[in-house]
Amino acid sequence: MNLQQGEQHKVSELPTMTESPINVVILGAGKGGKALLESLLTLPRIHLMGVADHDREAPGLKLAKRHHIPTTQDALQLIQQPNIHLIVNVTGNPSLQDDIYRYKHPNTEVLGGAASKVLWDIIQHESLMQAQLFQAEKLAGMGTFASGIAHDINNPLYIILAMAEAIQDESDLNTIRQHAAGIKDAAQRIHMIAKNITLYARESHATEAIPVDIQPTLDEALKIAMFATKLHEITVVKNYQENLVIEAKPEELFQVFVNLMTNAIHAMEGHGLLTLTAETEKELVRISITDTGKGIASENLPKIFDPFFTTKAPGQGTGLGLYNVRTLVRKYQGELTVDSAPGKGTTFSLVFPHAHASSR
Ligand SMILES: Nc1ncnc2c1ncn2[C@@H]1O[C@H](COP(=O)(O)OP(=O)(O)OP(=O)(O)O)[C@@H](O)[C@H]1O
Ligand SMILES: [Mg+2]
Repeated sequence: MNLQQGEQHKVSELPTMTESPINVVILGAGKGGKALLESLLTLPRIHLMGVADHDREAPGLKLAKRHHIPTTQDALQLIQQPNIHLIVNVTGNPSLQDDIYRYKHPNTEVLGGAASKVLWDIIQHESLMQAQLFQAEKLAGMGTFASGIAHDINNPLYIILAMAEAIQDESDLNTIRQHAAGIKDAAQRIHMIAKNITLYARESHATEAIPVDIQPTLDEALKIAMFATKLHEITVVKNYQENLVIEAKPEELFQVFVNLMTNAIHAMEGHGLLTLTAETEKELVRISITDTGKGIASENLPKIFDPFFTTKAPGQGTGLGLYNVRTLVRKYQGELTVDSAPGKGTTFSLVFPHAHASSR
């Protein structure tokens, strides 16, 4: 597809820098500091200048390193940096609070004690809500897939029925064996469909981001997204580079791909070309999903990532798909761009830091 022709719009989901960033350091990288860090990573306005913990094995320090945020064991040295707007102290160490006030810049604000505990409670609550929202959106998505799933199960089911009937009137052992093999194949196809659905519907249990291979994740996501249509008149082109790995919770990355591919398939109304590309770009991994569907009208482009924005008929979509994609992409320090030409098609591109296979 050539998106260069005709009317074309491009929107980048890069952190919006229209509002000036807030420079934050986190002191304490245990359970609380890590949860705080995870949450702040999804907020584009926040610029994390460093994380400190005297324990070099603290889980939050590992997370910070993965996101290329400076880490240190020396909290007091970190807070002396200029331009810090906010220090969040979740060390739970009351004696540190006096030192913070002694060493920090006069303009730097401090959140500590009870205030940081309240913040932590809010973040815990938010992350629980977020997980429930993802799950709810996934289950709502099952409605979209229902007729595709029924269609895909019916085909092998008809084969099973036809062959079972044929066996009833058959006396030739070889033919009976052939029919039995056909029944087995068809049953296995149904089994695979059930397996894929279970994989998709299950709640995310991973607590940590781990290295995830892009290629099989894209392939598995495609199997689910294909349920979005009963018409199998979509040609899929895969341009995958080998050994692309990013750090993520596998189910979350899977859902990002399912959502983008489902949108693409819906936009093509069952006919068209879906191109999946995964490639490296310096230290980055770029994943693009291109469709030849109806495209996105320029007036809708700024709204597509809003929660509950949908152009689908009532009951057909929740409008949470792209909102969740954006939240997850931000969480993994990714970039999301969309390039659309109405009447021609759309490309969604994701760029993530490459977790090299050697770090596994
Ligand atoms: N590939 C695409 N081509 C054309 N329009 C798209 C594409 N992806 C998204 N959109 C537009 O963005 C809107 C919002 O997408 P989003 O995934 O958030 O919600 P939805 O697909 O409508 O509903 P849900 O994902 O909850 O089923 C869609 O309704 C559609 O108008
Ligand atoms: Mg969608």
